[in-house]
Amino acid sequence: MVQKAVRWMSCLLWFGPGSIDGQVQFSQAVPQGPTTIQVSLKNLASIAGGYHVHVLPLKPGSASPCSNADILGHFNPLAWNVSNSPSPGVGTVDQYEVGDISGKFGMLTLKDIYEGVHEDPSMPLTGPYSIVGRTISVGCKVLHSYIQCVKGLKKLEISDNCSGIHLY
Ligand SMILES: *[C@@H]1O[C@H](CO)[C@@H](O)[C@H](O)[C@H]1NC(C)=O
Ligand SMILES: *[C@@H]1O[C@H](CO)[C@@H](O)[C@H](O)[C@H]1NC(C)=O
Repeated sequence: MVQKAVRWMSCLLWFGPGSIDGQVQFSQAVPQGPTTIQVSLKNLASIAGGYHVHVLPLKPGSASPCSNADILGHFNPLAWNVSNSPSPGVGTVDQYEVGDISGKFGMLTLKDIYEGVHEDPSMPLTGPYSIVGRTISVGCKVLHSYIQCVKGLKKLEISDNCSGIHLY
């Protein structure tokens, strides 16, 4: 039987404070095939750092939609030990947490605009380790210091289609 190519698209909207704009799209040409991650971010203003898929979806109506209390840590279903990860952008995709996009493909540090297309065989859109429905955060740093800026976190909701996503 010939298997039809299936395209899985995720629609992403920004939540939380800050001026970062743009989107991250995930698609798969075939089920179980590698995921293509299309990143198009702007207004990063040199304060962004890493970006990650987190464990939980957005909590509707939350006063702190960007907090780790709401969305928990990086999505890491294979319990990868991050102290064994190489520097960002250096290793192979299996050497980082599944949700560690900037580890796999490089940080946003000192960028205002970032456009990139990445192939990731370890970012499933189906099955038990699927990232669909979770959130993405872009971490930012306070200017002139290296304090992680929770208020600057921006969140994206990952959905299998664009309906049913509400800005709040
Ligand atoms: C993670 O790896 C480090 C360095 O190899 C090790 O010291 C630590 O015990 C590991 N942590 C877990 C939870 O396995
Ligand atoms: C879009 O997603 C929502 C929620 O997951 C689902 O209820 C709805 O049926 C989907 N619509 C289409 C056209 O796939």
